[in-house]
Amino acid sequence: MKKHLTPLLLLLAFTSAHAVYNEQGIKTYQKLCKECHGSEFRGAGMLTMDEWDEIYDKGDAEMAALHKDSPKALEMLKEGYYQSRKEDLFDFLTNNAKDAGAVPGCDGNYCGY
Ligand code: HEC
Repeated sequence: MKKHLTPLLLLLAFTSAHAVYNEQGIKTYQKLCKECHGSEFRGAGMLTMDEWDEIYDKGDAEMAALHKDSPKALEMLKEGYYQSRKEDLFDFLTNNAKDAGAVPGCDGNYCGY
């Protein structure tokens, strides 16, 4: 019985870390948003969880409205890369929003602020 516990704990640890980090979402942020909005966790910390949720729910039109003065950002929003990964992107953003309670730190892959 005892020897089955470790894999289970590892699995749990991995699952919860995954929920906060969302690797795919971070990569998408790095590729699409970082050059204008700064480091991953700083970008996610721009807004609260509710605000990110609201933007995601309103969809592309809302993102376009926020970026109406940036032709480059508007172009990016139309591209397939953004379209196919926005779910992961917003998952990451929401889970690391300024009121999400995630404590940014260094985990060997990513650093906070
Ligand atoms: C080419 C530059 C550029 C890129 C790329 C870009 N943005 Fe922006 N973003 C801006 C500018 C300019 C504004 C409007 C001024 C501001 O609020 O900083 C803005 C505003 C925003 C706002 C509103 C901020 C607020 O306080 O209301 C959000 C949210 C946002 N961007 C998210 C994103 C996300 C997520 C991505 C990646 C998918 C992204 N942006 C990519 C330039 C960019």
